[in-house]
Amino acid sequence: MSGRRPLVIVGGGAAGLAAALAAAPMPVRLLCRSRRGQGSASALAQGGIAAALGKGDSAAGHAADTMAAGADYNNAALVRWLCTRAYAAIDWLVSLGVTFDRDEYGGLQLGREGGHQAARIVHAGGDATGAEVARAMRRKVQGESRIDYREGVDVDALLLRGNRVCGVRVRGEGGFSEEIEASAVVLATGGIGAAFARTSNPPGADGSGLALGLAAGAVARDLEFVQFHPTALDVDGGHCLPLITEALRGAGARLVDSAGAPLMRDVHAQGDLAPRDVVARCVWQAQREGWGAWLDTREVTGDWTRRFPTVLAACTAHGVDPRHQRIPVTPAAHFHMGGLATDLNGSTTVLGLYAVGEVACNGMHGANRLASNSLLEAILCGQRLGGHLARMPQAQPKGAFRWSRRGNTLPEPRRIELRRLLWEAAGPVREESTLERALQRCAELAGQGWQARLAQPLLEAAQQRRTSLGAHYRLDSTA
Ligand code: SIN
Repeated sequence: MSGRRPLVIVGGGAAGLAAALAAAPMPVRLLCRSRRGQGSASALAQGGIAAALGKGDSAAGHAADTMAAGADYNNAALVRWLCTRAYAAIDWLVSLGVTFDRDEYGGLQLGREGGHQAARIVHAGGDATGAEVARAMRRKVQGESRIDYREGVDVDALLLRGNRVCGVRVRGEGGFSEEIEASAVVLATGGIGAAFARTSNPPGADGSGLALGLAAGAVARDLEFVQFHPTALDVDGGHCLPLITEALRGAGARLVDSAGAPLMRDVHAQGDLAPRDVVARCVWQAQREGWGAWLDTREVTGDWTRRFPTVLAACTAHGVDPRHQRIPVTPAAHFHMGGLATDLNGSTTVLGLYAVGEVACNGMHGANRLASNSLLEAILCGQRLGGHLARMPQAQPKGAFRWSRRGNTLPEPRRIELRRLLWEAAGPVREESTLERALQRCAELAGQGWQARLAQPLLEAAQQRRTSLGAHYRLDSTA
């Protein structure tokens, strides 16, 4: 083994792209499952990026809202770190060519979302922020000669030498397989929404990176904290559902039941802009009681083709015109606060293995992420990790080589069953009896595929936390 081994980054969402850009000029291999950035949750992000840029607003106010949404379970120092750097993240994106929406004087337009006490959501293309950010970052990455950007490939095993991760095995179409030795491996594979029956995430957000990290012995934390977005488009039998951005509620849309009665009245002081977990449970409850839930967007003014083109297109494709009709909505798994335990530099508990973005858990989001903090975290933590790795001397691993494999994929019918199981047991509302039944079924399926083995620690964490906190809501809460 000689020469400079590349840094391998797995995942082409905002976190992986930011890490790659900050790590170059060291050689980087960036490996993505999907093509043209289509498979990342980052590209689907609608609302935007939170930054306290408004008159009278402050990073301290942003931090206070982040802590309140996270049920004060957040790492307060990291929250301060995040919120004070939001301005720099926006500046950096502008320097990459991201076209944010501006007012007639050239100032950034600021939207409002749930849990925020001020209008501080910077957005692009109306509700197409993630797509615009991902476009500009990908273009920059593709122009970097030191970054070898490969799409349509899956990493299914990590190479270890002694106790240090030092490579990956890559699989692609037509039986393609490659083994790559690496100076370090970064997992930036996103979340686990697609492991649930209803999600706003893309199909690739199935926890594959988390499963790889766990198989290699990395410690996970806070796995029980899964955020459910209150308003995905309620498409019959749908799995990966179009998101109906919370920014619509910031622009005056209201949640109502089938009789048109406001759902959030008398539930929370912030009404329709209450923290996401509160709103998601309300929608869930309305569905369970047979009332159903709709987002009444008919009072939202302005040009929908400029303000909410993504929502307009998704609704229209399903026969709903949100300018004149109410949108049927459902909660959907949206963001995983838990993940592989890392420090601020993205180090996991396994040498040579790093994690960043949604697959990681550094404690910033606490028990419930504040709206529009995810792209912000992905970009800032990705940059920090890339810079950290670029400065690190290359380790020379010693000892015997071995492979740590994610293992077989569950057959499709069992995957569908598992998604329903997770939705029922570890969805917006949880209780002992369903968690126990789901765990028993996962134990039966564990030998058949990695998805069932991944579900086990999540269900166990939800079972062990007997008290409701943030997005983790126990119907049988002991407090
Ligand atoms: C949304 O636009 O409602 C989602 C934004 C986020 O997940 O922070």
